[in-house]
Amino acid sequence: MAQGKPRVLSGIQPTADSFHLGNLLGALRNWVHLQQEADAYYCIVDLHAITVPQSADTLRERTLVSFAQVVAAGVDPEQACVFVQSQVPEHAQLAWVLMCQTGFGEASRMTQFKDKAAKGGAGQASVGLFTYPILQAADILLYHADRVPVGEDQRQHLELTRDLATRFNQRYGPTFTVPQAYIMAHGAKIADLAEPTAKMSKSSPAGCVFLLDPPKRIEKQLKSAVTDSEGVVRFDPERQPGVSNLVGIIAACTDRTPQDVVSDYDGVLYGQLKKDAVEAVLSVAVPFAERTRELLADPTELERLMAVGAAKARAAAAPTLAKTYEALGFVRG
Ligand code: TYM
Repeated sequence: MAQGKPRVLSGIQPTADSFHLGNLLGALRNWVHLQQEADAYYCIVDLHAITVPQSADTLRERTLVSFAQVVAAGVDPEQACVFVQSQVPEHAQLAWVLMCQTGFGEASRMTQFKDKAAKGGAGQASVGLFTYPILQAADILLYHADRVPVGEDQRQHLELTRDLATRFNQRYGPTFTVPQAYIMAHGAKIADLAEPTAKMSKSSPAGCVFLLDPPKRIEKQLKSAVTDSEGVVRFDPERQPGVSNLVGIIAACTDRTPQDVVSDYDGVLYGQLKKDAVEAVLSVAVPFAERTRELLADPTELERLMAVGAAKARAAAAPTLAKTYEALGFVRG
């Protein structure tokens, strides 16, 4: 704990032209919420982005747009430390140390790697994609984070982080804080609109609501969301994944519980549910997109904020790396 407040760290990849609804409802909203009560560190994880091929210009542009979107979502860079991962070299340095604590079999069990490697074609995945969760562990452990606000899909990576911290502490003496995942009860798993048994993801654009898309496109996508033939609005993600996803989206966008939202739909058809989902999502997405555009109009200011964030992050990360090197027996240079 720093200054009596819990320490929080999270990250987001700059791998799309826009964040999607799942990023906002599953993670970013928690980032905003936690910045007051915690000592918060939030990073744009460009080192993670290059685990799959990126064009340099696109990555540069998306890093800036991602930074702007974190601020547009309500993270105050004067209050929380917002930074770009590659500007803090300690992340890559600690990742190597942690790779040497990780079993090959342990890393092979990561389901996100298996899914992504399968999508890209067997044999095409980089070693960086394989070690992705270990770099993520380094991000978290460098800052002694107590809590890590993420969506449900990151639970396994958080477990690995906890295991690595515990193992290192046992082998070399107390060095890292063992963090806890901080996952919201609602909104932590927004499903793909076209395939509601899968999570919403930028890699399946057909079912993904990109927040910076034109409102007309967002409307069209929500209106063509897959539902079912039951004709009754319930919140039952197992039996009615599509309808429950729309209920969950309305609930998360309007700060209600899914059960409360369902109570509005006694005898009401799915068409109305979709209309209400459009209204709820646009009430969040339109101001978010406007604010992002305003921030992007001043890239010099964004770069200044990035530099401030990187300096603050390095000041927190460097002592942890020094302590780790000392524990390992590295001779000081
Ligand atoms: P990324 O960029 O894939 O996702 C960023 C955040 O969005 C959440 N998320 C979702 N939440 C709900 N429903 C969805 N459909 C959905 N899709 C994505 C993710 O859970 C995540 O919280 N590996 C991390 C990036 C990372 C990180 C870290 C996170 C790197 N280092 C350290 C925490 C701490 C990731 O998933 O990024």
